[in-house]
Amino acid sequence: MQKPTIAIIGPGRAGSALGRALHKASYTIAAIGGRNPDNVRNLAAELGARACQSPATTIDLADLTILAVPDDVILPLATDMADSLCSAAGRSVVHLSGAQDRGALRPLAQQASLRTGVFHPLQTFRRGPQAAQNVAGTYFGIDADPPFRDLLMQLAGDVGGHHFDLSGVDRALYHAAAVFAANYPTTLLAEAIALASQAGLEAETARQGMTTLLAGVVKNLSELTPAEAITGPASRGDLGTIQRHLDALKNDPELQRLYQLLADRTKLLDPDKEAAA
Ligand SMILES: NC(=O)c1ccc[n+]([C@@H]2O[C@H](COP(=O)([O-])OP(=O)(O)OC[C@H]3O[C@@H](n4cnc5c(N)ncnc54)[C@H](OP(=O)(O)O)[C@@H]3O)[C@@H](O)[C@H]2O)c1
Repeated sequence: MQKPTIAIIGPGRAGSALGRALHKASYTIAAIGGRNPDNVRNLAAELGARACQSPATTIDLADLTILAVPDDVILPLATDMADSLCSAAGRSVVHLSGAQDRGALRPLAQQASLRTGVFHPLQTFRRGPQAAQNVAGTYFGIDADPPFRDLLMQLAGDVGGHHFDLSGVDRALYHAAAVFAANYPTTLLAEAIALASQAGLEAETARQGMTTLLAGVVKNLSELTPAEAITGPASRGDLGTIQRHLDALKNDPELQRLYQLLADRTKLLDPDKEAAA
C-alpha cells in the first residue's frame, strides 16, 4: 500500500511524537498546522514540512490529516474546517482522542465528504523529542471504515505499533480505563514521594527510591497478571500493618480514605478468578 502524505494539526505532545515517528518511518510530513506560530514553525522545520496557520489550508496539503488537538477542540475545529475547505477530494482526517468517537469529525464527513476515523495511541507522550521513543510498541485503537481502516492499520505497523478495533467500544469507559493505567499511578507516586519525604527521607532519595519501586512493579506487570504481581499487606492479609498505615495517615483524612479504598479493591484481586477468565 502506498504511503499517504501526512499533515498534523497541533504540534503538541502527541502530534509531535507521531510526526517524528512517522517521519522516521519514511512518511512525508507535508504540513504542520496549529495555533502558536513558533511551535508550528519549529516542528515543520524539523520534519521538512510546510508551516501553516490555517487548518483548512493544512488539510489541503496532505492525503491524511491528523488532528492532534485537545479533545474539546476537535468538534469546533472540524466544524470550522468543513466551512472553509476548498477541496477535500480523496482526503482523510483522523483524531487521536480515546474519549471521542468519529462523531467529533462529523462535519468533515458530512459537509465535506472526507474519510474520517479515530487513531488513538494507547500511550503516554511527554513534551519534547524523547516522546517519539514511546511510539514503537504502542497499541493503536482504530475506528474507521475499510479501506481507510487498512491504511491506518498500516500506519500503526509502520511506526512499530500494534492495532486493535475501537468500533463499538464504549469510549468513556475505555478512556477511563486508560486514565487509570496511565495517569493515576503518577498521582499515587506523587503522594508516595510526599509521604516518604514527610517520614524523613531526603527529597531526592524519596523520588528516586519510589520511582525505582514503581519501575519494578511495571516490570513485573509486563510478565504477570495484576493478581500474580501484587505484593504488600492487603494481598497478604496483614491487617495489623494496614491499621498502622491508616493511623499514620490520620492527619490527611482524604488520603486515609483513598488508602482504605485501594486496600479494599486490592483484597478483591483473585489469582484464581483471573486465571479462569
Ligand atoms: N499526550 C498524550 O499522552 C496523548 C496520548 C494519547 C492521545 N492523546 C490525544 O492527542 C490529542 C492531543 O493531546 P496532547 O496531549 O498532545 O495535547 P497538547 O500537548 O496540549 O497539544 C495540543 C496541540 O493542539 C494545539 N491547539 C490547542 N487548541 C487549539 C485550537 N483551538 N486550534 C488549533 N490548535 C490548537 C496546541 O497549540 P499550542 O501549540 O498553541 O499549544 C498544541 O499544539 C488529544 O486528543 C489527546 O486525547 C494524547
